[in-house]
Amino acid sequence: MAFFDPAKFTEEAITSLKSQLNSKAIIAASGGVDSTVTAALAAKAVGDNLLAIYVDTGYMRLGESDFVSSMLEELGIQHKMVDASERFYKGLRGITDPEQKRKIIGELFIRVFEEEAKDYGGKFLVQGTIAPDWIESGGGLRDTIKSHHNVGGLPEDMEMELCEPIRELYKDEVRSLAEYLKISVSQRQPFPGPGLAVRIMGEATPERTKVVRQACHIAEKEMELAAERNEMELPWQYFAVLIPIKTVGVQGDVRAYGNTVAVRAVHSYDAMTAQAVDLPYSVLKKISERITRELKSDVNRVVYDITDKPPGTIEWE
Ligand code: XMP
Repeated sequence: MAFFDPAKFTEEAITSLKSQLNSKAIIAASGGVDSTVTAALAAKAVGDNLLAIYVDTGYMRLGESDFVSSMLEELGIQHKMVDASERFYKGLRGITDPEQKRKIIGELFIRVFEEEAKDYGGKFLVQGTIAPDWIESGGGLRDTIKSHHNVGGLPEDMEMELCEPIRELYKDEVRSLAEYLKISVSQRQPFPGPGLAVRIMGEATPERTKVVRQACHIAEKEMELAAERNEMELPWQYFAVLIPIKTVGVQGDVRAYGNTVAVRAVHSYDAMTAQAVDLPYSVLKKISERITRELKSDVNRVVYDITDKPPGTIEWE
């Protein structure tokens, strides 16, 4: 494979974006590395003729909206934060089927995004599509497993023109480009488009979302701290899942009847296959103690998922 030169790529991408984007453009900024790199390149090319739109679906990580907002600010990217959480919670009310959840979230996302684009008068839609996204979708294999909503979810009658400056790049190249552009999320773990909704088995209510958000935060934090102490390598992806199946426990000397949280940590290269990580027992123990203590009224049991992909997938839904 040819050597990837981020400086040369940046220079060429900016030149080509400058000539292509001759009118207002928008980009959906998720806070992930692909869309942030793309937004940074487009902003360098057209400045305030680009608006990055971040949709808070209500299923984001703890502190995510503030984090993304300050990152875009630092990068000098004009942006708008849209809190659509109530709309998403309402849309998912009573929905338990994983594919239905994904479809509803995907559609709502596009609807909110289109409204914002119309408001701004964007003629171009810039997207952070990378090579595996379209290769996997084209192959048809992936989408029969789960409907990813960043590819193929665009309405057929979309009036904006699509612009995908990093569509030929692979993840490692995007990460090296992010480092070159001084983007803090260059090594950040992936986060699924449908967010925490696919980490809640069953109905993704606002109450359950709060629980899984905190459980994910604890699992992430404890693994990151352990990695900083050199007790383990930071996994490729790591999070928690809420299983609303109640089991009997005991808190103090009182009977408890609460939900279960599963912790997941995997190594992967390209997300097509993954191996469950052999986490140090002390780290698992700390995560379990914190989750059952800090989420005492909701969770009284923590388990560790040791399934590889295949036969599992990385996310549970
Ligand atoms: P699975 O669960 O299919 O996930 O093994 C593979 C990788 O993709 C992420 N993922 C998504 N990313 N939109 C995305 O942009 C989605 O709808 C989506 N679903 C899963 C998942 O977190 C893992 O890194």
